Amino acid sequence: MIAIDLDTVSLFQPEVLEDPFAYYQAAIARRPVMTLPGSNVVLVSSYDLLSEATARIAEFSNDFGAILAGARSADPDVTAVLEKGWPQRDTLLTADPPVHTRFRKLVNLAFSMKRVDAIEADIRAIAEGLVDAFPADGRIDFVRDFAVPLPVAVIASQIGIAGDVATVKRWSDAFADRLGGMISTERELECAHQVVEFQHAMKLRIDERRAAPADDLLSDLVHAHVEGEAALDDAELLSIVQQLMVAGNETTTSTLAGGLLLLIQNPGQQAKVRADPGLVGNMVEEMLRMESPTAGLWRVVKRDAMLGGVEIKAGSMMMLRFAAANRDPARFVDPDAFDVTRKAARSHLAFGRGIHMCVGNMLSRKELAVAFDVLLQRIAGFALAPDADLGHVPNMLLRGLRRLDIIVDRT
Ligand code: HEM
Repeated sequence: MIAIDLDTVSLFQPEVLEDPFAYYQAAIARRPVMTLPGSNVVLVSSYDLLSEATARIAEFSNDFGAILAGARSADPDVTAVLEKGWPQRDTLLTADPPVHTRFRKLVNLAFSMKRVDAIEADIRAIAEGLVDAFPADGRIDFVRDFAVPLPVAVIASQIGIAGDVATVKRWSDAFADRLGGMISTERELECAHQVVEFQHAMKLRIDERRAAPADDLLSDLVHAHVEGEAALDDAELLSIVQQLMVAGNETTTSTLAGGLLLLIQNPGQQAKVRADPGLVGNMVEEMLRMESPTAGLWRVVKRDAMLGGVEIKAGSMMMLRFAAANRDPARFVDPDAFDVTRKAARSHLAFGRGIHMCVGNMLSRKELAVAFDVLLQRIAGFALAPDADLGHVPNMLLRGLRRLDIIVDRT
């Protein structure tokens, strides 16, 4: 492996972000807690120290909503549009206890195993429909034709917008773009319109479910009740549904696409799963470990602290690099190898750990397992298109293939 000079090479250089694995190994081995040169960002990369940081919630806080919002403009035109909707609340990802605790208890009720099992048939039907729609010549962009529409369609049907996948994708992209904070005022204005359109459409569905529950996740959220806690009000419900779309769609898309690429690049592993479909569950865990689509997330350092013997100043930003921790050789033998029979695969940190651990993890695991089950059953072989471009979307937090041009053999 090429030696990486941690003083001069930055994780956020485009070529390093594209292929960060040598950097991760250097960081874990030499500076598992490291202030990035010329910044106030502390990168945490080893499995044990990252796990420890997720537990120290009083020092390392999730109150980073303002940072996610980035350079969001306080443009009066944008504000005027947003005023036609409901205020956006810090609910789960960007809240600390006790605010977080109340939301999490209520949202956990909606993501019960019972609900996820009820969604399974829906997921299978959507996945099969997508495979059936692949063109006769078998040439597809797997991202566009399968990995994007699957999670979007699943969430669309759970929030009462079944059948209108394009609208849900449009809203979802608008929320994601606003979070990125790197957009023009023109796009910002367009996104504000989308947010308000989403809120009004969703408010109708919320009212319908208050009057008469339906068999979906939105009903479970509307009717979620925990002893001693107030039920979710409209603005809170809207913020939560918005967060489910942002947190769940791109991440599941990236795992599907990155996961399929791993199967193509590792034919021996693919053959093992084809021979024993009982391995699909463990294969999905190994894909999550290798892909870690939420590559990193922020914490705000609230007071001076020590982690792994390194002093960290109050006011610093901490980046928990889940993608690095998932390749820590102290935890995973031969960490860069894709091994569908890996024993400890499920102990990965792709969904985080502690009180913020992904609330959608069971749904996502179900989507991935059903999707790969359908794909492996219905498609005899996958091959990369000769001109396939395997570049990733440049993003400091999320990692995912831009597109995946493949040829599928349906015989
Ligand atoms: C492969 C797919 C997914 C990955 C890799 C992923 C990853 C993560 C990670 C790493 C966290 C922890 C955040 C932290 O520690 O600050 C998280 C939280 C969260 N995820 Fe996921 N996620 C996925 C799918 C989903 C889905 C399908 C949903 C919902 C439909 C969802 C909703 C959320 C929410 C609401 C939180 C915040 C939870 C809290 O703060 O209590 N995620 N996710």
